[in-house]
Amino acid sequence: MISRAGQPERVLSGMRPTGRLHLGHYHGVLKNWVELQNEYECFYFVADWHALTTHYEDDNLDMGEYVWEMVIDWLAAGVDPAQSTLFIQSKILQHAELSLILSMITPLGWLERVPSYKDQQDKLKEKDLATHGFLGYPVLQSADILIYGATKVPVGEDQVPHIELSREIARRFNFLYGRDPGFEEKAERAIKKLGKKGAKMYRQLRVAYVERGDQDALDRAQVFVENNQNITIGEKERLLGYLEGGGRMILEEPEALLTQSPKLPGLDGEKMSKSYNNTIALRDDPRRVEQGLRAMPTDPARKRRNDPGDPEKCPVWELHKVYTGRDVHAWVQDGCRTAKIGCLDCKQPLIDAILQEQKEILDRSQQYTDDPTLVRNIIADGCERAREVAEDTLEEVRSSIGLVYY
Ligand code: TRP
Ligand code: SF4
Repeated sequence: MISRAGQPERVLSGMRPTGRLHLGHYHGVLKNWVELQNEYECFYFVADWHALTTHYEDDNLDMGEYVWEMVIDWLAAGVDPAQSTLFIQSKILQHAELSLILSMITPLGWLERVPSYKDQQDKLKEKDLATHGFLGYPVLQSADILIYGATKVPVGEDQVPHIELSREIARRFNFLYGRDPGFEEKAERAIKKLGKKGAKMYRQLRVAYVERGDQDALDRAQVFVENNQNITIGEKERLLGYLEGGGRMILEEPEALLTQSPKLPGLDGEKMSKSYNNTIALRDDPRRVEQGLRAMPTDPARKRRNDPGDPEKCPVWELHKVYTGRDVHAWVQDGCRTAKIGCLDCKQPLIDAILQEQKEILDRSQQYTDDPTLVRNIIADGCERAREVAEDTLEEVRSSIGLVYY
C-alpha cells in the first residue's frame, strides 16, 4: 500500500542522550545517517523520553547537557540541518498523544513478547524496570516512527523486533480505523474512472489477490494504479487500499534499515562501550587519544620486540581494518608475523588516521561550541518542522477514530 503517493520516502531515527558519543557510534550509526541524507528526507531526534524509560532514577543523567552535546556530535559528524530535520522528542507532544492512542489498541501480549523487555530486565538487574513506561516503550517508539510516516528506520539488530512491532501496530490501527463509512461505494466510484478495460482488469487482479492470495496479481495491480493518469491521489490511495481488502491506510508500515556496524574495540581491547569506560569520544582530546592508543593491548604473544605476532589475535588490527588502507594492511600483516615492525610502529599510521578523522570532526564542531545559539536555533527550526508533520498525522488519526468535536 502506498499512502504518501509520489513523495520521497522518509527516514526516521532516534538516539538516547545518555552521554558523549564515541567512535563506535560514529562508525556504527552516524556515518550511515549522513549518507542517508542524500537519498531520503531524514528526521533525526533526541530520544529523551526513551532515556527516561531506563534511567528514570539516574542522578547522573544530566539531559540539559547531554542533549546539546549529542546534537553537536551529530553536526560534527556531518549531519546537515539544511537537509535533515533535527529535533527533540519531548518538544513534540504529539508523540505522547499518538503513543497514548496506540497503547489502547496494543495487546499486552505483544509487548511482553518483545525480546528486549525480558533481556534488559535480566541485564540491568540493579534497575527496577517493572514499570508501565518500560513495558510500553516500544509503543512510544512506534509512535515516533508512525507519526512521520517514515518508511525506513535505520537501526541496529537489537532494535529490529521494535520495528516489526510498529508494523503490527500500524496494521492493526488501519484495520480498526481505516474503514470509513461508504468506503466501498467510494472505491467503486474510483474504479469506474479507470475506464472500461482498466476497471475490468483492476477487478480481476483484486479478486485474484483477495481470494487466492496471488501476490503477482497484487504487484501488477499496484503498478497499474500508481501509473494511472485519470485518477486523483486520493482515489489512488483508496484503490490501493481496496486492493488489499482493507480500507484507507492511515499509518504507514515502516521497514528496518539494518545498519552494519564494524565491531570497534575500545582502548582496553574489549568492545568499545561506555559501560566499559574504554571509549574514544567523537570529540576527544588528541593527546588522550594518542596516549590511549599507544597503551592499547596487542597480541599477548608479542612480549618482546622480537617476538612474532598474529594480527588476528590483536585488537589493534580491528582498528586497522576500519581506518587504514590496503598497503598499510599488507605492511602490518607481514611486519607483525615476522617481527619486522614493533607494535608502536604498527600503531602509528592508525593514530594518524584517527587523529585526522577527529580533526575534521572537531573542526566541524567548532562553530557550534563557539556559539551555542546556533545549535539552539537548529533545534528550534527542526522542532517546528517536525511538529507540523506530526500534527498533520494526528489530525488524521483523531478524525479516523472520531475524536473530533465541533
Ligand atoms: N529505542 C532506540 C534506542 O534505544 C531509540 C529510538 C527511539 C528509536 N525511538 C526510535 C530508533 C525510533 C529508531 C526509531 O536506541
Ligand atoms: Fe597488533 Fe600490530 Fe602489534 Fe601485530 S604489530 S600485535 S597487529 S599492534
